[in-house]
Amino acid sequence: MEQQQNAKVILGGNTFELPVMVGTEGERGIDISKLRSLTNYVTFDHGFGNTSNCESAITFLDGEAGVLRYRGYPIEELAEKSSFIETAYLLVYGSLPTSEQLRAFSESFNQHSMLHEDMKNFFKGFASNAHPMSILASMVCSLAAYYPGIDAMNPTQADFDRIVVQLMSKVRTIAAFAYKKSQGQPFVYPRYDLEYIPNFLNMMFSSPINEYKIYDEVVQALKVLFILHADHEQNCSTSTVRLVGSAQANLYASITAGICALWGPLHGGANEAVIDMLELIHKDNDDVDKYVEMAKDKSNRFRLMGFGHRVYKSYDPRAKIIKRCAHDLLAKLGIDDPLLEIAVKLENKALTDPYFIERNLYPNVDFYSGIIYRAIGIPKDMFTVMFAIGRLPGWIAHWKEMMDNPAGKIGRPRQIYVGPTQRAYVSINKR
Ligand code: SDX
Repeated sequence: MEQQQNAKVILGGNTFELPVMVGTEGERGIDISKLRSLTNYVTFDHGFGNTSNCESAITFLDGEAGVLRYRGYPIEELAEKSSFIETAYLLVYGSLPTSEQLRAFSESFNQHSMLHEDMKNFFKGFASNAHPMSILASMVCSLAAYYPGIDAMNPTQADFDRIVVQLMSKVRTIAAFAYKKSQGQPFVYPRYDLEYIPNFLNMMFSSPINEYKIYDEVVQALKVLFILHADHEQNCSTSTVRLVGSAQANLYASITAGICALWGPLHGGANEAVIDMLELIHKDNDDVDKYVEMAKDKSNRFRLMGFGHRVYKSYDPRAKIIKRCAHDLLAKLGIDDPLLEIAVKLENKALTDPYFIERNLYPNVDFYSGIIYRAIGIPKDMFTVMFAIGRLPGWIAHWKEMMDNPAGKIGRPRQIYVGPTQRAYVSINKR
């Protein structure tokens, strides 16, 4: 890494020098690892918008330029030319697989696609209207009770390789079983002869009386969505996986924490919230102007879901691809979804409005993805589960990168205390 001249901090008449780090894409950071021991000061950065918690070689994004690359490969190329399993291999192992590596990796997904039969009993305990994200988090954490993890004191590559596939393959099965549970239908088991996405679609939509017809257009649309959701550097859920993993919590527990963080409507839950918003506008005579004005009104908590981003201050490159994919799929399937029309109107209205322009608010990855899920027949409460399936390889890659760091230590941020100073206890009869 290129060395830069140190940063200087002047406090109380003293000058302190802090090293500057430069990443391979020219990003610069001030290394404050020794700030407190040097100055007895800590920094304050609400929401960590200016703070790096690690060096990472997995994903690079440039929010101003709208650039997103996985291990150096632009997502536009991967979405067009790669498969979800190949992209997952790239993220986790750092390079594109050879044909033999990809065959073996893909084959192992079928070996690990079943759930332990006893785990099926868990589903009997869930309420019929249980949110699938609640089921997913519970079931992923419970995998640790049935499948051996990685011995933190003696981690082996073979154990890691096994768990990568177990997690990615079984999460897909758990997701499909959660959907069947919500429909009151019997589970459809994974099939050895089907690849990752067709297997998922078959488990979701086939039944004892009907074999779901797998259309290539649908498989391709889901492939694009899974690839585009596969990683996004230090977003809320990935940072959560890293923080939980830094305590040497096992991979199942760390991924469960990531699933819970993703569930938030400001994060992965936004794709479900976008459809709620579009349905609300549709019920209100498609009055897009009214809702754009509401989103600008500070006294109103309403926000345009699927709009804005902590990092992208230009159009989210994923949203561009997903928007095109939504139009293509609905045209191929002959679906005329009024919500797509409302979404386009909303986007056009917002992108010409000074409020959104001044704040660099553009559609993000969640704005159009729900339109595709709807067209496929995936219910709204499954949308964030779909995001989790896609994001899983990214979470795993970051967990492994963090665990492989010999200098790694438990994450433990500081705070600025603003509570009461010392005071004596007052007995209850004197309060
Ligand atoms: C994802 O981090 C990632 O990489 C996440 C993700 C990933 O792949 O992992 O990309 C996935 O989570 C995408 C984001 C999905 N969430 C939503 O679509 C929810 C709606 N968006 C907002 O809540 C918001 O834009 C966030 C949460 C995404 C970003 O919030 P920030 O960076 O904290 O921005 P902010 O709240 O400080 O907003 C800056 C200004 C504020 O106005 P002012 O105080 O300057 O007057 O922009 C306004 C905000 O009120 N604003 C919005 C808005 N988003 C921000 N106003 C109306 N509608 C919105 N959607």
